[in-house]
Amino acid sequence: MTARKILVTSALPYANGSIHLGHLLEYIQTDIWVRFQKSRGNDCRYVCADDAHGTAIMLRAEQEGITPQALIDRVNAEHQADFARFNVNFDNYYSTHSAENRAHSERIYKALDNAGYIQTRDIEQMFDPEREMFLADRFIKGTCPKCHADDQYGDNCEACGAAYTPAELINPVSAISGATPVVKSSTHYFFDLPRFATFLQEWTRSDHLQPQIANKLQEWFESGLNQWDISRDAPYFGFEIPDAPGKYFYVWLDAPIGYLASFQNLCEREGIDFDSYWQKDSDAEVYHFIGKDIVYFHALFWPAMLEGAGMRTPTAVNCHGFVTVNGAKMSKSRGTFIKAETYAEYLNPEYLRYYFAAKLTSGVDDLDLNLDDFAARVNADLVGKVVNIASRCAGFVKKAGGRLSDTTAEPDLVQRFVDEGDAIAADFEAREFSRAVRRIMALADDANTYIADKAPWALAKEEGRAQDVLDICSVGINLFRQLMVYLAPIVPSLAEGAREFLGLDTLSWDSRTTLLEGHAINRFTPLMTRVEREKIDQMIEASREVLIEEQKIKDGTAGRPTPLDEDPISSEIDFDAFSQIDLRIALIKKAEGVEGAKKLLKLTLDLGGTEKTVFSGIKSQYSPEALEGRLTVMVANLAPRKMRFGLSEGMVLAAGDNDGIYLLSPDSGAKPGQRVS
Ligand code: MSP
Ligand code: ZN
Repeated sequence: MTARKILVTSALPYANGSIHLGHLLEYIQTDIWVRFQKSRGNDCRYVCADDAHGTAIMLRAEQEGITPQALIDRVNAEHQADFARFNVNFDNYYSTHSAENRAHSERIYKALDNAGYIQTRDIEQMFDPEREMFLADRFIKGTCPKCHADDQYGDNCEACGAAYTPAELINPVSAISGATPVVKSSTHYFFDLPRFATFLQEWTRSDHLQPQIANKLQEWFESGLNQWDISRDAPYFGFEIPDAPGKYFYVWLDAPIGYLASFQNLCEREGIDFDSYWQKDSDAEVYHFIGKDIVYFHALFWPAMLEGAGMRTPTAVNCHGFVTVNGAKMSKSRGTFIKAETYAEYLNPEYLRYYFAAKLTSGVDDLDLNLDDFAARVNADLVGKVVNIASRCAGFVKKAGGRLSDTTAEPDLVQRFVDEGDAIAADFEAREFSRAVRRIMALADDANTYIADKAPWALAKEEGRAQDVLDICSVGINLFRQLMVYLAPIVPSLAEGAREFLGLDTLSWDSRTTLLEGHAINRFTPLMTRVEREKIDQMIEASREVLIEEQKIKDGTAGRPTPLDEDPISSEIDFDAFSQIDLRIALIKKAEGVEGAKKLLKLTLDLGGTEKTVFSGIKSQYSPEALEGRLTVMVANLAPRKMRFGLSEGMVLAAGDNDGIYLLSPDSGAKPGQRVS
């Protein structure tokens, strides 16, 4: 069989936020698939980049008092460190703010323009007269025209769910400067998507998409395609449109082109022929892995742009669902909005890779990370079943001199494990990882049953059975090796440890057909430890702490759901549950910074005689001096939490959002220690 030429991408994460467990589902899914292809001997490359352009990044840099370049460089390094922690092994990780991306964006734009697919038209938009910039809906706030809730975004109301235009808001203000926006006209550039309607109808129904996605797109076709606004006015962080001074490519135009740019950069470094991948009659396969929120861009705009520019279109766009934690959207206040870095501080990244794999299908359903199930599953499967096989056998082989038997005592059993590799490979290929894992774990059960039945530890006590013991354990080690070949794409670090233990050069897919006979193995060291419940709890606590520091401005990518930013009202509790919360007026006697914690203040609170110490993440907003002598509200009966800096004996109440942190305080007259109800 000749090697397939395959190019794979994951979506490009925005350069103004940290990688979290939701993102990781995508990068882990893609990485497993890529590692599988490489294990099979295919010529497979995996590229990605930071999505560095747009208003959000420009404003974020401004807020931090640094240049956009400094911001995107810093975040790029953070992202790459996070991916490395999780063994996500890109062949190239780049940035959309690169010379290659500028060149490809200009080239594709000019090709579209020359072919008559670009049009200009004046449109009216809200404009911030103070900042002198046009405002996307997300950057306008005001009172909801329907329910009159204050402080709602320009496109929809988080209180009542109403959708409207910014012009309908009562008392609209710019979220950037606070000025009242005015309506202003300017020329915009449009990509003529409707001209691709026939092409797209055909393309979206030709096996490039999962059936659920193809059906969804059908609805969009029925409601008609619109021209796509691809320009933004200065000030904007991005690429200026050729021959259009002051006009920039909208971030979503040059973002997918960033796939090409990152690959181009790799091609130059490694002498790969770029065109042989991207020209129309290319024999290479191209796959994009994305989340379901960005289908529109990848399944409509992107193929149309490529087609319009005379290039090949993707072989497939592979879409996945969203991560939930313990059955709900990731939530900052519940501590389930977990950053990659925080997770890795407490838990082995391979646990997560395994858990995601064990639950991933080729569909677009959401995937729940249930933390109890996570611990139970990893412990039962990886530690209890797989690693256990090696640890049960290794000692006996070592005692017999460290070399496996010259002939395989149970050839049929081992051969069955080898043969199952074809079905497992088919599952990996089809992105049915959960099915692959089920097959692998069924084999692991069989291996354990075999060893338990033969009980080498009992035989070892009998006279003259040494060869039998070695034969049994050699079969066990051979079975373990088969399992590790199959698991290697999912848990590469564990597999690397196993490879060393087994004394092998490789765990590639085909290598498994040569059985290990008369083969020397190395000393066994524990390959993986159990998930500790305590570590999970600590991770949740640590994620709660970082909540208040987070200040995030989202880009105005209209119409996109922003599920992680919403924090819906929690489920109902009854009055009894509420009355268990002991809220008290507290006097802030003392407030001080905490050595080594940028965001925390240590508060000494007086509850009318009783004193409590509370660590609170409000330092970015309040200076210690301003707080001393002030009254606030605290949860007085919260179980004390051990933090890195000491014991926190409760919580002070504050509201927090994009704009800041607001400590609650009672009206004058309230006394320290008074109950709040
Ligand atoms: N910058 C764009 C993508 C441009 S691609 C040319 C973007 N960035 S993102 O950082 O918001 O998301 C990156 C990827 O992570 C997307 O595919 C998105 O669907 C995925 N996820 C973000 N949160 C997620 C979950 N909670 N669960 C699963 N995937 C999630 O969109
Ligand atoms: Zn409303």
